[in-house]
Amino acid sequence: MLLLGIETSCDDTATAVVRDGVHVLSNVSTNQDEFHAKYGGIVPEIASRRHAALLSAAVDDALTRANVSLGELDGIAVTSGPGLIGSLVVGVAAAKALAFATGLPLYAVNHLHGHLFAAFLERDEPPPYPFLALLVSGGHSQLVEVHSPVSLRIIGKTRDDAAGEAYDKTARLLDLPFPGGPALDALARNGDPKAIAFPRHRPDPGTLDMSFSGLKTSVRYFLTSDAGKRARREDVAASFQAAVVDVLIDRVARALDAGEYRALVLSGGVAANSALQTAFRLLGEQRSIPAYVPERRFCTDNAAMIAAAAERRGDAASADPRTLVADPNLRFA
Ligand code: KG4
Ligand code: ZN
Repeated sequence: MLLLGIETSCDDTATAVVRDGVHVLSNVSTNQDEFHAKYGGIVPEIASRRHAALLSAAVDDALTRANVSLGELDGIAVTSGPGLIGSLVVGVAAAKALAFATGLPLYAVNHLHGHLFAAFLERDEPPPYPFLALLVSGGHSQLVEVHSPVSLRIIGKTRDDAAGEAYDKTARLLDLPFPGGPALDALARNGDPKAIAFPRHRPDPGTLDMSFSGLKTSVRYFLTSDAGKRARREDVAASFQAAVVDVLIDRVARALDAGEYRALVLSGGVAANSALQTAFRLLGEQRSIPAYVPERRFCTDNAAMIAAAAERRGDAASADPRTLVADPNLRFA
């Protein structure tokens, strides 16, 4: 199928044209960082207004770059949740309008399914089922067992902050600019990951859950201590990052001990992190299981992954333009 993808769940206004859930003919994304930076985080009202201002041109842009007309499409895929309600409704309203105007089938995609199927983009061989996915974004941190595109099970999740949230909050403690994750990643490259022994918190041995809020608090206390005042910011960043990566990799390793999987898949905005990518691939080598890491442009929010998920999920994603509503709390599995 030739699908137009639309993604506006948070602060990226993203559109894409994807063939067969694999070949990305265009992938357009306008981030709004400059509008939110002075507030140190995303302001929902600003995000939805920017989406409303940009989306129509972004749809045209994706079609033009792909050299495809609306009439050549086989369907329209849109993120219907979870996310910021004001942001979601802009994308959903646009997709419904397009579906009405063209008569094309409409697909409603869960943003997290989008992240999972990002690993299928621009790849000759898709990850084989069942695979184990580590989904780490700004709002979620989960281990997901994927048996088929429509059979998924969350086997572990964060008890508090998501990994991306921990990055963003810690970046703020280090006075790094918004968005914090990529800035902290860059700073950590020049630091010593062993300089400070931040805690690796793993909730009860019997579960695959994780926790990051204690780590963030440790960084906060450390920075106000005498040692913290003397420490290099690069070392604090690298040591924080080492703790996050250790916890995440430990959870994946334990899940591999307990279950039978044919592949590992990394996804979500934090999957763009260089240290996490390296550790994830290394774990795959050590356990002799192929590790799939999406291209960086498909890790953070994008619309190509939404089209990929709609393609894989097919009928399960099919939606009626008369009744589809955005759902900020849309359930995942
Ligand atoms: O998936 P995503 O783009 O949006 C959500 O669905 O939340 O993920 C955004 C999160 C943010 O917390 C951002 O700081 C984090 O991903 N992130 C990173 C990196 N790039 C983005 N975290 C660590 N290292 C990176 N290179
Ligand atoms: Zn996301």
